[in-house]
Amino acid sequence: MIRGRFTLVVALPKGRNFADGYNALAGAGLALPTLENERALLHGQEGGVAILELRNHDVPTYVDLGIADVGVVGNDVLLESGRDVYEPVDLGTGACRLSLIRHPQATGPIRRIATKYPRFTAQVLRERGLAADIIELAGNVELAALTGLADAVVDVVQTGATLRAAGLVELEVLAHSTARFIVNRQSLKLKRDLLRPLIERLRANAHTLP
Ligand code: PRP
Ligand code: MG
Repeated sequence: MIRGRFTLVVALPKGRNFADGYNALAGAGLALPTLENERALLHGQEGGVAILELRNHDVPTYVDLGIADVGVVGNDVLLESGRDVYEPVDLGTGACRLSLIRHPQATGPIRRIATKYPRFTAQVLRERGLAADIIELAGNVELAALTGLADAVVDVVQTGATLRAAGLVELEVLAHSTARFIVNRQSLKLKRDLLRPLIERLRANAHTLP
């Protein structure tokens, strides 16, 4: 159990957005632990701040259920999660988009869509009055369009390098996303003296982004 052992528990997404989240919090003056062991999943000393290194789709879950007090995650993932967390700061980093992607030779109707974002995709289909089967995958979703598992995919495009490498086409941008600082609603009350000034500094720093 982690409760009570740390002054603050921070959930960060492992991978390419970890460093942006870490730097935003450190830049706002939060005394984060140093990352000594790169295989560690939990960083930090008792009585200080702890960092949980999570898959990005798990960050809202840990924050909503109060295991982590705060976290950093893209609003694409937040939207998908349907979790109820306080979302006080748009950090502006990790800009990416959720797009509809196809194989250039696929021209027929879109009957099956593969994605890591099934709730988001279902919502888009509902809003447009369209029907398609949604196939939930766990990663490397572009392969579904490449292999014919699905007629199209909905996935994240950041630099576009993955699409170019796979020779796929971005048909339409469905949503834009940036990294958000999120807070457990109860922690916001219980750790107000720590979190209010942190939120103010994160907001001030986010406004000075290039
Ligand atoms: C993500 C996303 C795209 C890619 C987009 O995959 O699913 O495939 O990054 O980035 P790009 O436009 O800069 O190429 P990632 O490898 O992070 O993980 P995944 O296994 O969940 O697909
Ligand atoms: Mg990928």
